[in-house]
Amino acid sequence: MSNTAEINVGGKAIELPVIEGSENEQAIDISKLRGQSGIITIDPGFKNTGSTTSAITFLDGEKGILRYRGYSIEELAEKSNFLEVSYLLIYGHLPSNEEYNNFVETITKHTLVHEDVKKILEGFPSAAHPMGVLSSLVCAQTAFYPESLDPNRSSDEVDLSIIRLIAKMPTFAAWSYKNQIGHPVNYPDNKQSYAANFLKMMFANPAEDYEVDPVVADALDKLLILHADHEQNCSTSTVRVVGSSHASMYASISAGINALWGPLHGGANQAVIEMLENIKADGGDTKKWMAKAKDKDDPFRLMGFGHRVYKNFDPRAKIIKKAADDVLTKLGVSDPVLDIAKGLEEEALNDPYFVERKLYPNVDFYSGIIYRALGIPTDMFTVMFAMGRLPGWIAQWKEMRENKEPIGRPRQVYTGSKERSYVSMSER
Ligand code: ACO
Repeated sequence: MSNTAEINVGGKAIELPVIEGSENEQAIDISKLRGQSGIITIDPGFKNTGSTTSAITFLDGEKGILRYRGYSIEELAEKSNFLEVSYLLIYGHLPSNEEYNNFVETITKHTLVHEDVKKILEGFPSAAHPMGVLSSLVCAQTAFYPESLDPNRSSDEVDLSIIRLIAKMPTFAAWSYKNQIGHPVNYPDNKQSYAANFLKMMFANPAEDYEVDPVVADALDKLLILHADHEQNCSTSTVRVVGSSHASMYASISAGINALWGPLHGGANQAVIEMLENIKADGGDTKKWMAKAKDKDDPFRLMGFGHRVYKNFDPRAKIIKKAADDVLTKLGVSDPVLDIAKGLEEEALNDPYFVERKLYPNVDFYSGIIYRALGIPTDMFTVMFAMGRLPGWIAQWKEMRENKEPIGRPRQVYTGSKERSYVSMSER
């Protein structure tokens, strides 16, 4: 196959290079097109635009493949753990024994946050959504570690910021919940695993004993792995674009948390459970809600269905569906909402509207059901997603900086007024 492409603009042929990825993906490199021809390309929502080359995550939406650094998500979810996967994503290889132990030990040592973080937390009304609190606390780290603002730090200094953020994220996440319910915060317990420490900070309170259930901690660890990276999605692209201005890693990831918050992205897991509960409260008639989802005059969409890149089953959804069954059985929880979810899925998979548009359940469809079974409150679901996505954001931010990528600055096609003269107020 030719490694150039030709486009014809106003009778003038322009040759453009075609680059190829390691999985034979082809892309026309248009970076010099404007210089050569004066024209730009337009692609709202970047549906067909690659913003970067990346060696972190491979995703084939048509075939339902997801791999971190070449390792399949199925294998990692079964055999690895979240901190090992974090190391893999950030440093590009599976850690040796020594690298792994060192990584885990250093993270464990940095779980405490500055006491003044509590003062910031106390400033939030209890009605504050934990995602807003989380993004604020992450950005506030620039104040506690002002050296992180220096874009020219050594790689050891960058590594320390990375360790600090991974270590403190569960503390911020659990504290954002404690603030919401008006309970005293719990300090980290470094004898626990990463997931168990988070659960203890979330659920322990001075009034009663709390023991972390290993089934719950294992299930949470698996969910974190499944969310750990997903190439250039909305929040990750946000992290890379913000970081491309040489803003600090904390500021860039805080921006990513905000991008994740929306119901069309990470906020979908909360929206799914709210939708399933509405359907249940409405009598559980899934056919009625399917009809609403298909009606173009009705703004309702089936939350947890469809994906920008998966036009086949989301491989994470397959793992999560099975995990939901396992966890509910192990914990002895029966959740009627799971039955509604299964009913909706079955109907959608057999409905021409969904089949033609290749709308399959995505990762968020079943994750909310597991989170509920683990006792995680609904508006903490997206916070759980952010905890999982953290190593992916870090890896993508680090790669973007190491590759010395230019500042992200798209162009536009202007459609507003032509030049006109100002008319004073009295003459309008
Ligand atoms: N319910 C009903 N119809 C849908 C749905 C849905 N969930 N998703 C897409 N469609 C329809 C659209 O109406 C459109 O139909 P049309 O061609 O007749 O106009 C067609 O399918 C294509 O939809 P788009 O919105 O163009 O697809 P896009 O790739 O832009 O959007 C998205 C993907 C945002 C995920 C969309 O499917 C959606 O809104 N899903 C529900 C929200 C959700 O679950 N988000 C989580 C995504 S996963 C994640 O972020 C981790």
